[in-house]
Amino acid sequence: MNQKVSALLNDQINKELYSAYLYLDMANFYTTKGLDGFANWYEIQAKEEQDHAMLIYQFLHNNNETVTLEAVAKPDKIYKELMDPLTAALEHEKYVTSLINNIYGEAQADNDFRTVQFLDWFVKEQGEEEKNSTDLITKMELFGGDAKGLYMLNSELAGRVYSAPSLTL
Ligand code: FEO
Repeated sequence: MNQKVSALLNDQINKELYSAYLYLDMANFYTTKGLDGFANWYEIQAKEEQDHAMLIYQFLHNNNETVTLEAVAKPDKIYKELMDPLTAALEHEKYVTSLINNIYGEAQADNDFRTVQFLDWFVKEQGEEEKNSTDLITKMELFGGDAKGLYMLNSELAGRVYSAPSLTL
């Protein structure tokens, strides 16, 4: 594997684990606010990010590449309003999309079609992640303004269940 592509994938493991940590911190915020449904949503989101990290970890090992684990940064976003994590999540997913696109471009430029094919799943996943984040903001804008609407939305988010990623290696 091209060493630049390998290094970018290696770094992406760290970025995905940071994403997990960031989402766990959002769950942490909502738990302190008494919104267990919102917390559940982001706890599951955190699990999904760990899955993303493990998929890349496994892919590198399957290709006989060295994996180096670096320190995971502290989640440093401050949340005041209930809407704050939702907008931060969308902003973060857009950033992750840009990272995936960058690796994709590097792999494509190197004719590394195995990595390109592997990343196809991530490109689609990022589309879903951005849509989910956007939909949640829309719902919060529509229903989060009064106690009853917020209660209903929290109940809906409490129903989210974790499922393993559709990609297997
Ligand atoms: Fe792993 Fe939410 O991107």
